[in-house]
Amino acid sequence: MTIAPVQRTASTAWTDAHLILQLEEVVETELNRHLKVAKEWMPHEFVPWSQGRDFDGALGGEAWALDQSKVTPLGRVALVVNLLTEDNLPSYHHEIATMFGREGAWGTWVHRWTAEEGRHGIALRDYLLTTRAVDPVELERARMIHMSEGFESDNAHSMLHSVAYVAFQELATRISHRNTGHYAGDPLCEQLLAKIANDENLHMVFYRNLLKAALDFAPDQTMRAIADVVTDFRMPGHGMPGFERSAAQLAIGGIYNLRIHHDDVLQPVLRHLKVMEIRGLGPAGQLAQDELGRFLEGLDAQASKFDERQAALLARKAANAARK
Ligand SMILES: [Fe+2]
Ligand SMILES: [Fe+2]
Repeated sequence: MTIAPVQRTASTAWTDAHLILQLEEVVETELNRHLKVAKEWMPHEFVPWSQGRDFDGALGGEAWALDQSKVTPLGRVALVVNLLTEDNLPSYHHEIATMFGREGAWGTWVHRWTAEEGRHGIALRDYLLTTRAVDPVELERARMIHMSEGFESDNAHSMLHSVAYVAFQELATRISHRNTGHYAGDPLCEQLLAKIANDENLHMVFYRNLLKAALDFAPDQTMRAIADVVTDFRMPGHGMPGFERSAAQLAIGGIYNLRIHHDDVLQPVLRHLKVMEIRGLGPAGQLAQDELGRFLEGLDAQASKFDERQAALLARKAANAARK
């Protein structure tokens, strides 16, 4: 399907309705590319069912106890954060279906993305319960609290902000799953998380390519959206119970922190899109690009301070462990 580009002068802002129409063709191309590269995989093949047994309660099996868990303490924190984040899928679906619509290529993408994300929560929960990796009662109570709160996008006011956010957020989720796998202490868990991380990467590529198209035809507005999203970025699971405490543990443990956010999430997308190299912007775009540049410098400096604190803390821990 070909849609004639809507002519805009530099001073005319694109409305969300026009942006959705203008991007429809790109969405169709990217959707077809995604469907070609996304390989089907079966969540049940990644769960060691033979390790499972009945729990207490209705079936009178064995209650969960900490010593049954084979994953590391850091892995347990990260796996719960990752699963609760995936669990809020109904709210995410609502947000993107409301923003992008359920018709045409946009609608096909929204539903396909939702189906792929659904697989992540299913696979993770099956793995955690079968291997008794985390407390199932705590997990269920946290899920109820988290989902009852729902998720409201910080970017629901703007189409371009929404696209920019999901481009960074999908990569953040990929990195978080991948690093959780590295530190979980169970090769089967790492194998499953690598599979999920691969899906997240393809989601990032889809949104990043949309963002690239938007930068081409609406550079000033898209630059503003990128600057706003990068400077105000929050992880999608920020509303879950105990998030601050968990996030601090994940930061020190090297699963997700400022350094990782800057080096492995923000910079790869920004570099790929050559965001800081775009020239010839209007005054509003230029202002946004300058703000973004200053923010990234500040973040890098903050991340370096964090690196030092983390190294000192880990050295102290190692020294304490050696003394014992
Ligand atoms: Fe996911
Ligand atoms: Fe994703």
